Amino acid sequence: MTPRTRAIVVVHLYGLAADMDPIMDFARSRNLPVVEDAAQAIGAGYKGRRTGSLGDVACFSFYPTKNLGACGDAGMIVTNSAERAERLRILRNHGQTGKYVSSEPGWNGRLDEMQAAILRVKLRHLAAWQRARQAHAAEYTRHFAQIPGIMPPLVPEGYEHVFHQYTVRVEERDKLQRVLSEKKIGSAIYYPVPLHLQPLYTALGYKEGDFPHAEHAAQEILSLPMYPELRPAQLTRVAEAVTEFVRH
Ligand SMILES: Cc1ncc(COP(=O)(O)O)c(C=O)c1O
Repeated sequence: MTPRTRAIVVVHLYGLAADMDPIMDFARSRNLPVVEDAAQAIGAGYKGRRTGSLGDVACFSFYPTKNLGACGDAGMIVTNSAERAERLRILRNHGQTGKYVSSEPGWNGRLDEMQAAILRVKLRHLAAWQRARQAHAAEYTRHFAQIPGIMPPLVPEGYEHVFHQYTVRVEERDKLQRVLSEKKIGSAIYYPVPLHLQPLYTALGYKEGDFPHAEHAAQEILSLPMYPELRPAQLTRVAEAVTEFVRH
């Protein structure tokens, strides 16, 4: 928080909502709007509500890899403020308030209609796909629960995780990734460089050691294969490969 802080952006990472109550209390006490980045968390639940309805404005991504993916780039902003919705409609179309009349700088943020058509069909399947992801996650976690050295993702009471990623923490992460790769098992690191160490933010003056938890997490996280169509035999193969590595 500085006198220049204008808004708070909250990222619901991996498909799990952030703990919004204290964030909203803090924001309200400072009169700051809250933007939810729900790109990875469409349909995720928090205390009986869904991501996208918790802050003042929320952004969804329909990039093809997302839980609800288009056939190219697409996204959506939601808000319960009629005023903000109107402003966003203007901004997404070159700031135009009338045909070929621009009133402020905007951009082209229109959702392509072909993408909308594809998303409309895929949306019908989203709930079933989420259930499949949740079942896979439960199965992975069943494999890992009793193995010291693997920290499976936690789902706190009152949350519904939609498992955009199934991300574990292990100490020798890089070595595990190499071993999995040798077995032709894909995995990924989301994300290897914490925000404060991104070249983009060099000017802010942060250095290594400033956010030790984030830095430690960035060295231990590994996302395992997770998609609705994952077959039981594939999942077991991944889980056994991870378990075998950690046990030896
Ligand atoms: C948490 C998060 N925020 C924002 C984005 C950006 O979404 P898009 O590329 O559709 O703008 C992504 C995905 O790439 C994401 O995972």
